[in-house]
Amino acid sequence: MTDAMPGTAVPVHLRAAGVSLVVDAVPPGLPRVLHWGRDLGDLTAESLVAFRDASTPASFSVDHTQALSVLPTGRECWPGTPGLVGQRPGPADGGSCRAPFPDLRSTGPVELLTTGPDGGGLRVSATDPEAGLALTVELSLDPFGVLRTVLSITNTGDDPYEVDALRVLLPLPPSAVEVLDLTGVWCHERSPQRSPLVHGTHLRANRRGRTGHDATLLLTAGSTGFGFRTGEVRSVHVAWSGNHEHLVERFPEGAGLDTAVIGGGEVLAPGEVVLAPGETYRTPEVFFVWSGDGLDGVSRRLHRHVRARAVHPRSARPLVLNTWEAVYFDHDLERLRTLADVAAAVGVERFVLDDGWFRHRRDDSAGLGDWYVDETVWPEGLHPLVDHVRGLGLQMGLWVEPEMVNPDSDLARAHPDWLLTPGAPLARSQQGLDLANPEAYGYVLDRLDALVGEYSLDYLKWDHNRDLHVPVHAGRPGLHAQTVAAYRLLDDLLARHPALEIESCSSGGARIDLGILARTHRIWASDTNDAVERQSIQRMTWLLLPPELVGSHIGPARAHTTGRTADLPFRAVTALFGHAGIEWDIAGCTEDELAVLACWIRLYKELRPLLHTGDVVRADLADPGALLHGVVSADGTEAVFGYARLAPTTDSYPGRVRLPGLDPARSYRIRPRYDAGRPELFGRAAPPWLREEGVVLPGTVLTEAGLPMPGLRPSSALLLHLTAACPVV
Ligand code: DGJ
Repeated sequence: MTDAMPGTAVPVHLRAAGVSLVVDAVPPGLPRVLHWGRDLGDLTAESLVAFRDASTPASFSVDHTQALSVLPTGRECWPGTPGLVGQRPGPADGGSCRAPFPDLRSTGPVELLTTGPDGGGLRVSATDPEAGLALTVELSLDPFGVLRTVLSITNTGDDPYEVDALRVLLPLPPSAVEVLDLTGVWCHERSPQRSPLVHGTHLRANRRGRTGHDATLLLTAGSTGFGFRTGEVRSVHVAWSGNHEHLVERFPEGAGLDTAVIGGGEVLAPGEVVLAPGETYRTPEVFFVWSGDGLDGVSRRLHRHVRARAVHPRSARPLVLNTWEAVYFDHDLERLRTLADVAAAVGVERFVLDDGWFRHRRDDSAGLGDWYVDETVWPEGLHPLVDHVRGLGLQMGLWVEPEMVNPDSDLARAHPDWLLTPGAPLARSQQGLDLANPEAYGYVLDRLDALVGEYSLDYLKWDHNRDLHVPVHAGRPGLHAQTVAAYRLLDDLLARHPALEIESCSSGGARIDLGILARTHRIWASDTNDAVERQSIQRMTWLLLPPELVGSHIGPARAHTTGRTADLPFRAVTALFGHAGIEWDIAGCTEDELAVLACWIRLYKELRPLLHTGDVVRADLADPGALLHGVVSADGTEAVFGYARLAPTTDSYPGRVRLPGLDPARSYRIRPRYDAGRPELFGRAAPPWLREEGVVLPGTVLTEAGLPMPGLRPSSALLLHLTAACPVV
């Protein structure tokens, strides 16, 4: 960190974990990011000042060239998507709209919030007294090199100011030529798509009212052909579960000293945020991550950031049995008790009763909102089941969907005005509940509080099963208020029950973002438990989240969602790399299947300290039908890899496959783990290292030459466990 003394014209230099952020924040200008990328070392004030040297402006463009501010607008000749859009509506008699192009100027020197070798933070305040606006810009670099940004705008005028957009945009250098983001649908979330970074706007705007099955998770721009292990990349993530956008944008004149911009923010509907005098709008946190070694480098920084948060679960992640695919709505006490017995016998640690336990909920068309145990199905309440589960030594979890209501419910009949958008088209026969209505909010909070208290619940599976396309609160667009209220509901419930854990589920994986994860303890990655699909979904989910936050369950041999069949060993290796569980009616399993499950659960318990603390690594294989991923301990002494064949290959043998992330200065004992069964091999000549006792090989061989892989049948996987043998002398 190089201090910029107040009043001096020296850019601020924040450094952490191989990242440098150089910010020029000289009044009256807004802060400008001169460099965000590889660590530049200890820079003198003179060299920092030299950053300001600009290239010559092109003919017929503006007569000066300068770095864009973090809030670029037409004021600084930025022709692209503006950082701020808002208006102070004119008087009712038709007078003109005021403050359309505010001229925000910083009011003083940069405020250094924290400084040190592990990053730091700064704040800059700015105003436009004529427009009646005050802006605050916060930038901080955490010890892992993750850059957090928050902007806030305050109405200092004496009449309302409407905020239509407030977004953060950071510069991208000319080396950023390709864009990668994700899309998807129910049961096929987080499907990657790649495109060249051309002139124009690559905008991923979400107006679904939830993060979405097609959410990009991370929007990444990088060097030619960047992959998991190579390339210089820059990613952005907007930590928000309501409407939001990520964008990359490039124009012929470039972006000041750079070529393009990357950023994002919340998507606001007209009239959604109208600030009364003195009111402030804060953007969600927008995170930016640079990596010089591909997407794995981005994930490593983000996983460390996520693991350092206070809300991050610190206890061993219990092996879950969730009842959804086992029984669906067939809630029968004896059947569920038997399921719990079998679960306990194989080593399950948490039993979660899914949808179907509350009043009128015999299928998915009715009952949401009636958060009382259905007396017709559960005459003694849930106590007989909960007591049984606890008697077996398991934790107890329950499914809820607090933000929703079925029109066919006692709640909707009693309070039709509590519906978020009365009369809007239904989805899954349901509608949003207007949580910004204090009475509706109070009812749901009290019901959840009562249920968690009565049954001492350890866990809630918190679902959200529809897009909210036209949320209206008090006659105005209400998604912002709904999202804020949903966050508050989670926060208030956790304040009353600090030991409670909550899963963010949304028709599978439609609510995965760091906003919801600031108050939840894992996500449900997808409703598909088809292991072939799961291999790709989990791999891309790890872009943002470490495995311990990603629910990954073994389903039955024939996947309910796709109809595809897969052997148990493949399903087991696939589900191991996450917060593992079971989504299967194991009361109907054979003795052999139960024995395999018990071994797999023992393996999960053995490996979870590594799986849930190490660094995720993913190989860039040329073979399009195979995937290799692993987790390597931070000290490089232990690793576990999964090598999966998803589709046939035209090569007879896959050849050598490099194992990424290992320490080349060590040797490793490599053991295939057949705890959950052996995969079927193609061909007779299996490499000698596949013997159960394994082999010892130097890290250099494993990382540079690679391991000769056997041919595997499609839909099968190998699990490799590596432990450091001895240092190479
Ligand atoms: C959607 C979830 O994704 C499923 O796992 C299940 O909980 C159902 N909702 C229940 O309605």
